[in-house]
Amino acid sequence: MNRVVVGAQWGDEGKAKITDLLAQDADLIIRYQGGCNAGHTVVAHGKTFKFHLIPSGILYKGKTCLIGNGTVILPESFQTEIEGLKAENIDLSGLKVSPLAAITMPWHTEVDGYSESNAGKGKIGTTKKGIGPTYTDKMQRIGLRIEDLYSKETLSEKLDVILPIKNKQLKEVYNLKTYTKDEVLALCEKYAEIFRPYVCFDWQNLLRDAKREGKKILFEGAQGVMLDVDFGTYPFVTSSNPVGGGAGIGSGYGPTVIDEVIGVAKAYCTRVGEGPFVSELTDAVGKSIQDIGHEFGVTTGRPRRCGWFDAVTMKYACLVGGLTSIALTKIDVFDTFDEIKVCTAYKDTRNGETYTSYPTDVYTHKYLEPVYETHKGWGEDITAVRKYEDLPENCRKYLERLEQILETPISIVSVGPDREQTIFKV
Ligand code: GDP
Ligand code: IMO
Ligand code: MG
Repeated sequence: MNRVVVGAQWGDEGKAKITDLLAQDADLIIRYQGGCNAGHTVVAHGKTFKFHLIPSGILYKGKTCLIGNGTVILPESFQTEIEGLKAENIDLSGLKVSPLAAITMPWHTEVDGYSESNAGKGKIGTTKKGIGPTYTDKMQRIGLRIEDLYSKETLSEKLDVILPIKNKQLKEVYNLKTYTKDEVLALCEKYAEIFRPYVCFDWQNLLRDAKREGKKILFEGAQGVMLDVDFGTYPFVTSSNPVGGGAGIGSGYGPTVIDEVIGVAKAYCTRVGEGPFVSELTDAVGKSIQDIGHEFGVTTGRPRRCGWFDAVTMKYACLVGGLTSIALTKIDVFDTFDEIKVCTAYKDTRNGETYTSYPTDVYTHKYLEPVYETHKGWGEDITAVRKYEDLPENCRKYLERLEQILETPISIVSVGPDREQTIFKV
């Protein structure tokens, strides 16, 4: 069984917890998009691990963890993450990096920082890790890939094309520092050493053998469907494709290899950074969700905006994310709530119309109001529950109602951050 784990909201849904759990049964784990903008938390054996790029499956010995071609890698961040794991005595022998992954160069982070500081109304609230500019250059075909670090000739030829364009942009558009070829060559030598133990030049045979031998493959997504560059709340999105369809492109496998796509969603919604959020709560209820759920970013420490579960975007995520089932996390955050709301539709204040399909023009979202249905809380601690039938009746009712609206089964219910705090429903 080959599975994809996809964030179904605006990121931080608890994907890493679910990936870590499913990685127990997998042989090959492939992170297929994004970069160190991601912040993934796994709680295992009472310890908390934070990942940015390295697949959470690395915590199990004997698994192969590939950072796929669809990712963008900031070398310094990769190095820090490696050092952190080594300090925890985590075995990194299974860690591999695709030679086709894109490299985030210093100018990418500088341009990201500049763009964010000067964007005014167009501010996206990025993580300033150079993600957008790295993907932009990849698409413009002026990006460097990991494999370029190991061929002096290729690197030299590429830099002769890239640097004149880049320097002109840096100087004239951004008024930022330019780079000499010697400077970049020296930097690339340093990067080559960072990646050398991990680059998987034989990735084609790795993928071929895994497929032939029926190995179990787990594709790990970062961010979430509503941050997808095609389907999310564009332009307030990241620059890659977290949706299930991104797993093939970002790994080197075709779509027929995939059997299941598990969409991870919280029992409520959060978002970091700018952009529309129809069910956002700016009142005391939003604050309690933030406090009880510890909703602060792993990568930037920013407080996450909180709101009720949005079934409109989630129904959309089931479609465009290609979800075959849902892992619902953080339902325990509602243990003390008297009532819990679900946004089932949007009402357009301009004409009174209601929408149950997601309106893709986000500039109209300021006119939309959430339409809620209200559910009774369960008023008890569910963090020790391990069987679906042992959940309080109101909690099961809430979950079953979500399945009905979303027309997608909930296969996993997470009742706490620890590996053990998980209910496999089907
Ligand atoms: P990711 O980016 O999707 O992997 O998620 P993050 O790690 O950014 O944020 C999810 C946070 O919720 C982490 O601190 C997790 O340890 C925590 N978490 C995951 N599942 C649950 C759950 O079911 N209940 C609670 N209370 N916390 C959870
Ligand atoms: P994980 O994998 C939540 C958000 C940023 C910003 C937008 C664009 O932990 O779920 P970028 O730096 O990617 O250009 O920023 O996307 N963002 C995330 N939000 N979780 C993430 O990752 C995110 N990665 C990027 O806050 O709004
Ligand atoms: Mg996160």
